[in-house]
Amino acid sequence: MAEVRDVLNEAAHAAGSIILEYFQGSFRIEKKDSVNNLVTEVDKLSEKVIIDIIKKYFPDHSIISEEVGELMQDSDYQWIIDPIDGTVNFAHGIPICCVSIGVRYKNEMLYGVVYNPMMDEFFFAEKDNGAYLNDEPISVSEKSDFETACLVTGFPYKWPVSKEHPIRVFERFIMQGLPVRRLGSAAIDLCWVACGRFDGFWEYNLNSWDVAAGYLIVQEAGGKITNFQGEQYSVFDKETLATNGLIHDEMLRLITVHE
Ligand code: IPD
Ligand code: CA
Ligand code: CA
Ligand code: CA
Repeated sequence: MAEVRDVLNEAAHAAGSIILEYFQGSFRIEKKDSVNNLVTEVDKLSEKVIIDIIKKYFPDHSIISEEVGELMQDSDYQWIIDPIDGTVNFAHGIPICCVSIGVRYKNEMLYGVVYNPMMDEFFFAEKDNGAYLNDEPISVSEKSDFETACLVTGFPYKWPVSKEHPIRVFERFIMQGLPVRRLGSAAIDLCWVACGRFDGFWEYNLNSWDVAAGYLIVQEAGGKITNFQGEQYSVFDKETLATNGLIHDEMLRLITVHE
C-alpha cells in the first residue's frame, strides 16, 4: 500500500518537472472569465500528471483541482490541487510560481507541498510534524515590531463595488510606511511567511487550492492564520491573514478599521 506522503512527493515533483520544462518556452495561453485571468496549456499538463499519479495509487480519493473542479467526493481523503499557482507570472516568464498540493483527511489538513522548481524550493509540512524547506526545518520570523514588518498581499481580478476595495486596505498599510510586496502567488506568499522572509500576508477571495498547502505550512512553522475576524481559519474561507503570530492583531486592526 503506497503512503500518501510518497505519492504527494511524486506528484509534486512530476508537476514541477513539467513547469520547469516549459518555463520561458512556448505554450498556448487562454483567457478565463476576464482578460487577465489566464490558464495555460502547462496548467492543464501539470494538473493531468498530478491527478494521474493520485488515481494510480488511490483511485477512490476525492480531488478538488482548479481547472477540472471536483472529482470523486466521498472519500475521507481529499487532495486540493493548484497545478500552477502564479499562472500570470508563469505566462510572463517570471520565476515566482509553483505547484501546490494539500491533502486533507476527515476535513483536517494532513500534508502540504508547495514546490517552485525554478528556484528549486520544495516546502513541505505534515500535521504535528513541522514544516520544511528542502528538508530543513523552517519557522516564522520573530519580528514583533510592527513598524518594521515586511508584508505581502495580492489582489483579486474582480471585486463587488459594494465592498471596500482591497486597494484601500493596501493604502492603509502603505500610508504607515510599511514595505508591502505583491508577488502574484498566494501559495508562495504563505510559504515565505512560514520561512520568515515575510512577517505577514493577507488577501481576499482566495480559493481552497491557493491556500490548502500553504495554510498547513504556516501553521507547522509556528505561524498564525485566521480570517479577518481573527477566527479559526478554514481553507474554504474567503479572507486569509497569515502572520508570525506577533503582528497578527496589528494587521487585523488595519484590515478591519473601516468595517
Ligand atoms: C492566483 C495567485 C495570486 C492571487 C490570485 C490567485 P492562480 O492563483 O495565487 O497570487 O492573487 O487571487 O487566483 O490563478 O495563478 O492559480
Ligand atoms: Ca487561476
Ligand atoms: Ca492559485
Ligand atoms: Ca492555478
